[in-house]
Amino acid sequence: MPFSLSRRHFIAGSVSAFSVGFTCPAWSNMQPTRLPIPELVDGTNGDPVDLQIRTGKRAFLPGLETSTLGISQDYLGPTLRTRRNSELNLSYTNSLSEGVAIHGHGLHVPGIVDGGPQLEIAPGDQWQPRLSILQPAATCWYHSHTHGKSGEQVYRGLAGMIIIDDEESDAIDLPSRYGVDDLPVIIQDRTFDAQGQFVYSLNEAGEDGWFGETVLINGAIAPLVAAVPAGKVRLRVLNGANARFYVLAFADNRTFFKIGSDGGLLAEPVPMTTMEMSPGERCEVVVDLSDGASAELLVFFEDEIDAEEEGLISGLQNIFSETNAPSTNWSLKLNVDQALVAHKAPLPDVLASIVRPEEAEIANVRDFVLDMEDGGDHGAHAGHAAMDMTINGAAMDMSVINERVKRGVWERWRVRSNQGAHPFHVHGCSFLIEQMEGSVTPPDQQGWKDTVVLDDDDWSEFVVRFDHSATEQHPYMYHCHILEHEDRGMMGQFTVT
Ligand code: C2O
Ligand code: CU
Ligand code: CU
Repeated sequence: MPFSLSRRHFIAGSVSAFSVGFTCPAWSNMQPTRLPIPELVDGTNGDPVDLQIRTGKRAFLPGLETSTLGISQDYLGPTLRTRRNSELNLSYTNSLSEGVAIHGHGLHVPGIVDGGPQLEIAPGDQWQPRLSILQPAATCWYHSHTHGKSGEQVYRGLAGMIIIDDEESDAIDLPSRYGVDDLPVIIQDRTFDAQGQFVYSLNEAGEDGWFGETVLINGAIAPLVAAVPAGKVRLRVLNGANARFYVLAFADNRTFFKIGSDGGLLAEPVPMTTMEMSPGERCEVVVDLSDGASAELLVFFEDEIDAEEEGLISGLQNIFSETNAPSTNWSLKLNVDQALVAHKAPLPDVLASIVRPEEAEIANVRDFVLDMEDGGDHGAHAGHAAMDMTINGAAMDMSVINERVKRGVWERWRVRSNQGAHPFHVHGCSFLIEQMEGSVTPPDQQGWKDTVVLDDDDWSEFVVRFDHSATEQHPYMYHCHILEHEDRGMMGQFTVT
């Protein structure tokens, strides 16, 4: 299951032997498309950023146009860049015929501008949140959080990236030229029908959520960055899937360095060869391409690897040898162009200082149990859609405040899954994981997080402090980030006062 220590840090013989010569029948004739780089919108000067929530069309597949949703684009939205101690002013216009709520995932902002399901923008209406950015440099994102429809709207395209800079991140020497050696990498999976339209049904989603068969990266299938410099390249990876957990590795099994997690830079770079990501998580990594060889970042479906009980490496072998498994062919290719100015400086030994609270500062402990149960029909025909998705025995109810938290004090949250694997996410904060799967937190999980994975019948705990307020009218949410679990009720509301 996801996130075991051995998996995260496994170093094995090169997997490239298995990738050579492998072709996927469905897409083998396709030329790789260029990696689309979402337009970068600089929000640091405080001018309102216009964001149009609208329908669109995109030819993901050759010769077929898919109906999509997007934010000022046909699919996905622009990357919003902001800075600590500045104000990000957004102006959303909903030109859809249905309501939309848009949440700033990872932002430490008050509930009234958090964009939870209570803040639905009616068709034709505008919403203009002013966001005071007071948190450290990080890669965050924004996405649909519409009540009961987050999964469907994100699937069709309502999501985008947010980059926060600060003085500390300015002061360390990291690749930071957006679209050149600092690349957004938004990974999602989608299923297309014969006409090229997205296939999605919350009701027909299995108990693990809705899985797509085709991987999109920034909205392109198996894309290529035509030219990256022969030096260090930073990838801001977002698992923007509805439900899939991904495992990432380079085709030549090269080591890369994880430098950041959900809420900002790690204390120090962590060398890795494979990396698992659950829906909602962000990982910033730096890969060194100064050898001039092109590199290929492979995207695996964790659930397919899990089917193989022998562990990850045999799982990879197994997938590579299975000619019908399209997931093996999903990748992002990075071609090196020696003519480009490259970032050659060594990675800094220290990236950020992360200060954990003293035990005496922990003022309160809360327990959360995530569960999925058959919804009462115990007959043989009980479908997955009938599963009750709950936290502490209750499904999401907009009229119920589940928890009341005091602002500005540290708490310990202990979170357990009774059944299934769930990425547990909390609004309005970043937290520090103390234990994962009931044991020591791996080094790459020791930075600021807003999403933590709970395995089946497993628990984690973290310490958290909320610095902004959330009222009964505009509470924060905690929930499973498998969007079908969220939409089916695995979510709760809390105030911070
Ligand atoms: Cu990314 Cu409440 O969500
Ligand atoms: Cu969030
Ligand atoms: Cu879940």
